[in-house]
Amino acid sequence: MTTAADPVTVMKQQVGKAAADRVQSGTIVGLGTGSTTAYALQYLGERLKTGDLKDIQGIPTSFQAEVLAKQYGIPLVTLNDVDRIDVAIDGADEVDPNKNLIKGGGAAHTREKIVDALADQFIVVVDSSKLVDKLGSTFLLPVEVLPMAMTPVMRAIEKLGGKPQLRMGVKKAGPVITDQGNFVIDVKFDSIDSPAELEKTLNNIPGVLENGLFVGVATVVLVGEIKDGQPVVREI
Ligand code: 5RP
Repeated sequence: MTTAADPVTVMKQQVGKAAADRVQSGTIVGLGTGSTTAYALQYLGERLKTGDLKDIQGIPTSFQAEVLAKQYGIPLVTLNDVDRIDVAIDGADEVDPNKNLIKGGGAAHTREKIVDALADQFIVVVDSSKLVDKLGSTFLLPVEVLPMAMTPVMRAIEKLGGKPQLRMGVKKAGPVITDQGNFVIDVKFDSIDSPAELEKTLNNIPGVLENGLFVGVATVVLVGEIKDGQPVVREI
């Protein structure tokens, strides 16, 4: 007996497939992190297997992306091996009407920003629940911090009006540790009026590696939706 996938899963699958369909042979592809991007990597693997897609090279944004790429037969290279990234595919936790994002739900935003920002084309893949009028309205802003700087960074964030909390592990005692061996502080801001300014201000605090505001990085946003009971993909 097969059980029908839930609507969110269906939207993620459809949008992941739509992004994977846009990748062309011979390109260098940034491989994002998260459950939606995982479907894009799966479909890239299927296209490689059928021969519909050839000669791509992937740059993973996390340990998760690396493991999935190996599982789906996507050849991997590092940033030191290439002179460009043609396209990156990655998810997001919030998307505003200007295609600015909050990322970092998977604690991978530091590497994600490096890879996504280098790509000629950055395709964001989300389901419709991620669309917001204003960043910070549904999701806390992730900030990666060197462990020894955690307390002063939290104090500095409070001075900016944010309410910081250390992200704790699930099925792991203690804090979440990023792929780089750092902590993540999730910050509640009452209102993020200028994402570009806040992105720079946070990154200027000594001890902060990177924050999850992605301003002016996305080229296109593919949104998975259910319309009249059917999954559809809309482009922003
Ligand atoms: C990881 C991310 C993810 O792309 C973001 O959390 C979205 O994940 P999902 O597709 O599972 O909702 O930024 O750091």
